[in-house]
Amino acid sequence: MTRAGGPGGSSAVNQGERGGLPPGSGTGLDAATRDLVERDAAVFLHQALSTPVANAVVRAEGCRIHDAAGRSYLDLHGNGVHTVGYHHPAVVAAIEDCLRDGLLFAPRRFTNLPAVRLAEKLVSVAPAGLGRVLFCPGGSEAVEMAVMLAKLHTGRWKTLAYHGTFHGAGFQAVSVGADPHFRDGLGPLLPGALHLELPDPYRNPWGWTDRERIDAEYVRQLRVQLEQNPDVAAVISEAVFYNSTVPTRAFWEQVRDLCTRHGVLLIFDEIYTAFGRTGAMFAAEHFVTPDILVVGKGFGGAAVPFAGILAREELNSAAHKSIGHYTHEKNPLCCAVAMAVIETVEREGLVQRARDLGHHFLAGLEDLQAEFECVGNVTGLGLNLAVDLVTDRESRGRDGETAARLLAFAMERGVSFKLIQGNVLNLKPPLVISRGEIDEVVGTLRHGLRTLGAARPRGA
Ligand SMILES: Cc1ncc(COP(=O)(O)O)c(C=O)c1O
Repeated sequence: MTRAGGPGGSSAVNQGERGGLPPGSGTGLDAATRDLVERDAAVFLHQALSTPVANAVVRAEGCRIHDAAGRSYLDLHGNGVHTVGYHHPAVVAAIEDCLRDGLLFAPRRFTNLPAVRLAEKLVSVAPAGLGRVLFCPGGSEAVEMAVMLAKLHTGRWKTLAYHGTFHGAGFQAVSVGADPHFRDGLGPLLPGALHLELPDPYRNPWGWTDRERIDAEYVRQLRVQLEQNPDVAAVISEAVFYNSTVPTRAFWEQVRDLCTRHGVLLIFDEIYTAFGRTGAMFAAEHFVTPDILVVGKGFGGAAVPFAGILAREELNSAAHKSIGHYTHEKNPLCCAVAMAVIETVEREGLVQRARDLGHHFLAGLEDLQAEFECVGNVTGLGLNLAVDLVTDRESRGRDGETAARLLAFAMERGVSFKLIQGNVLNLKPPLVISRGEIDEVVGTLRHGLRTLGAARPRGA
């Protein structure tokens, strides 16, 4: 998926990326795959970023997806679900256990052991103070629950979020989020969903680079909004922004403080970052503890859809309402899989691994920045990295053309990743990726940039 919008961002999605695959990746398909791709296009409603598609997957294991033509792709995209890799043995075993035990669903009014064990486990690994949980099928629903809980708890109805962000596909989630691609054409969205400019040290209207100065300005903007909107229930954001911009701890401390002083809840959407990706179990650990923390994607072990929220004990205040009345709220199969994910992250030391390999990956990308003029910015935390390609370092114009060609080049050589805002390479591998595979990715990018003639001399 390509994100659009944001300050200085492209307002249109990158139409060249079909189903996450670039143009050209649909070539070389065997007859059976071509047939499947055509049947897919004939039966599914078409929508940008997913249908029509360019290829079909027959198997996904570890860090790789395999197509029918026998090609494999090192997957740094994975819709963000492959935290522990694909087809992890622990995830498979959890599913097999549920099948063996005949415990695949729990209707309302019945709890079950996998659900209770998961809830207890999640609380035990979460930042201190987040002692209550609620589960649901997907991230968009989890965002719904978080926002509804915040509104019910505070008795207020407005939200503040950052421009360009995506917090899910539901009506409330697209209202709260602010990516034009998902909002335009729907008429009036949810009232009271207010937006702020995303603090970006690489691209801001003033060309500032001093983090303290940038923080102060964006905190000022938030303070003004909060002063003028006493009905704000919550500020919702990813702790590390979608373009892998890493806010400073001081920034989040000031936001946290402002929220507390204004009686506003802070919601961290950790649908992408929870369970180790940033080199901490939760990205919040690098910064501050929110009032509500949202998890999803990797929670389902790249096998089942599952998500949820964690909240402070004090927010156990909506017992008279049903904010998460989802059929699969305590699905034992999903809960068993999510438990296997958390235990795998712990047992295999994936948090530390993301930290260590993140440093190694970042260093490799910084080498590219030193070599190629078009690599304007390299940023990120843990295995949550991004490379911003620019037309020149002075103007920082978004070089979507080189990005699209580089993605096509990489896909042909078996490396898959996502573009956001047309020009930013979004690099989020499974945490089980090896050092050698990271070197392979960096090598492929270097080879691609050299082949595309991107090695303009510095300053040219
Ligand atoms: C930050 C963020 N929040 C929420 C969502 C929505 O999650 P889901 O697709 O599981 O509904 C996404 C999905 O891409 C996301 O990236």
